[in-house]
Amino acid sequence: MGSAGYVPGIPRLGIPAQWVTDAGMGVATQRDSVDTYRERTALPAGIAVAATFNPDIARAGGAMIGSESYASGFNVLLGGGVDLLREPRNGRNFEYAGEDPLLAGTIVGASVQGIQSQGVISTVKHWALNDQETGRHIYSTDMDDAAAHMSDFLAFELAIEKGKPGSVMCSYNRVRSLYACESDYLLNKVLKGQFKYPGYVMSDWGAVYSTERAALAGLDQQSAGVFDDQPWFGKPLKLAIQNHKVPQSRLDDMARRILRSIFAVGLYDRPITDAKIDFDASKKVAQAAAEESIVLLKNKNNVLPIARTAKRILIVGGHADRGVISGGGSSTVFPVGGIAVPGLDVKGWYGPIVYLPSSPMAALMGRLPQTPFKYLDGNDAAAAAKEAAKADVVLVFATQWSTEDADHTMNLDGNQDELIRTVAAANPNTVVVVESGNPIFMPWADQVAGIVEAWFPGSGGGDAIARVLLGEVDASGRLPATFPASLDQFPQQQLPGSGLKDGTPFVINYPEGAAVGYKWFDKKNLKPLFPFGYGLSYTQFAYSDLGAAMNDGKLTVHFTVKNVGNRDGKDAPQIYVSPKNGSWEAPKRLAGWSKVSLASGASTTVTLIVDPRLLSVHDGSQWKLSNGPFVVSLGASSADIKQNVEVSGTLSR
Ligand code: BGC
Repeated sequence: MGSAGYVPGIPRLGIPAQWVTDAGMGVATQRDSVDTYRERTALPAGIAVAATFNPDIARAGGAMIGSESYASGFNVLLGGGVDLLREPRNGRNFEYAGEDPLLAGTIVGASVQGIQSQGVISTVKHWALNDQETGRHIYSTDMDDAAAHMSDFLAFELAIEKGKPGSVMCSYNRVRSLYACESDYLLNKVLKGQFKYPGYVMSDWGAVYSTERAALAGLDQQSAGVFDDQPWFGKPLKLAIQNHKVPQSRLDDMARRILRSIFAVGLYDRPITDAKIDFDASKKVAQAAAEESIVLLKNKNNVLPIARTAKRILIVGGHADRGVISGGGSSTVFPVGGIAVPGLDVKGWYGPIVYLPSSPMAALMGRLPQTPFKYLDGNDAAAAAKEAAKADVVLVFATQWSTEDADHTMNLDGNQDELIRTVAAANPNTVVVVESGNPIFMPWADQVAGIVEAWFPGSGGGDAIARVLLGEVDASGRLPATFPASLDQFPQQQLPGSGLKDGTPFVINYPEGAAVGYKWFDKKNLKPLFPFGYGLSYTQFAYSDLGAAMNDGKLTVHFTVKNVGNRDGKDAPQIYVSPKNGSWEAPKRLAGWSKVSLASGASTTVTLIVDPRLLSVHDGSQWKLSNGPFVVSLGASSADIKQNVEVSGTLSR
């Protein structure tokens, strides 16, 4: 059944074929077989998994989708999306892991570990600087070496170190006018040279434009040649080697790298198979991830958790009576149980719009059997307001589909902003549950009592949302990306390439350089709608006893976190670092965090060792340790620092 690719094996040598499937949320099916799709379990979106701030959750999720891949007859999974969220309008932000290189690299590295623990090769993708979809086949990203290394490249470097992916996928875009899959700089120099990456580079589908240039630049495998203008490897490569345009040693290196990963990840020892999948067990993994990913952004007068005594609950919009939305494009997982809202628009590529059959309303009703619920689709705002006036609590579900191959605007689609305002005016206990794959604007934020960011929450999303809304679990997600307040806060107010005729090449000079996300907001002193790292709990935490020391050339930080509220809960206290004198790309960098689970009244001491790269500046060819003293800060978000200490001493790598 359709998926992403196939590379025949060599039975004579026992080399297995590579059966390749998308992608990071689970086993996908390609669209041409939409009537006969394969039903599989979907994890929450990559950005949601990052919002857990919990690498264990990412690893467990990776293992789940790795095992479903293997059981579906696939031994290569095109997961590991780690392009940084530097452009909030990027349609693929949902596949990635947010704006910070340490967070993204750590979460994606853990997810890759999980996938590969099942004997399935994972990619890390899309290398590199592939940070928007508009013009994705033609734009060129021109960023200086140092800035790239301290932002996007660092996310890849960390994900590769931690996850040891069998393959890295090079991207569609150009970098300094050369296609990424033909860039000696990206493939040979940075990836294989500076990062010492031992695995193989595969091209994205339709990202190759030549034989010689690509082979010499370091491309090891041309993926799905049907997407390219012609098969550039295979016969043309053989000819290029015979004509001494490409040395035989390059071909040997390609084969060695592919075989190395086949052996390292265990494909050689595990022939592929079709096995039975325990979908209930998979769904539990997806639901656990969703539960930790949901971010409580506003909770005026403790409108949440919903009081079990609430008499009438009105639910409006977002097809919450049927399911939860997911992202579009090659990563689309067709859900077990079928598409919950069939027939929605976007019939061809990159659709369909898939709602997973996990209804938040059904999950709430199952838990509050005595409470009368009512659902309205929200198309008529006035009618919704009329009903809202009669309810104790109103939950408005706002959905914002996003997809590969298209970027989007920051405002909610259709009449949703207006709907929220109208309903909120009729009922002060209005809570908005957003399902989106990226930050959005919330022009109604001051008018509603509660806001919950539930992302694309995956196959267990309905139950996860219900459990958080009812307080069965704490709200413990934290934002892996800044939510800007307005377009004028963006480094580029106009999306690069927008308005250009299709096919017109253009250059993106990201003015923020390495100061991505909160770093830009700090540097420019901008107040976002919600900052990076932010999220409320149903309980309160107090931080104390921050200390930092240089031990054996490493910066070691410790602090105490105490649950001072009257409920059990989870928190993700964060450590940021800055140079006391001088400056980096931005005032501070995330240098560590810990996801802690604490009973009411309990406390714990956290100790973290800071990666020396976060105390260094890259000069384009290597990291150079900065001289101290450093300021170490402990905070509940990038904009809520509770304590600072200074530390000096000698660092070593
Ligand atoms: C996407 C990749 C994906 C590949 C195979 C491309 O369009 O950019 O992320 O893995 O297709 O489906």
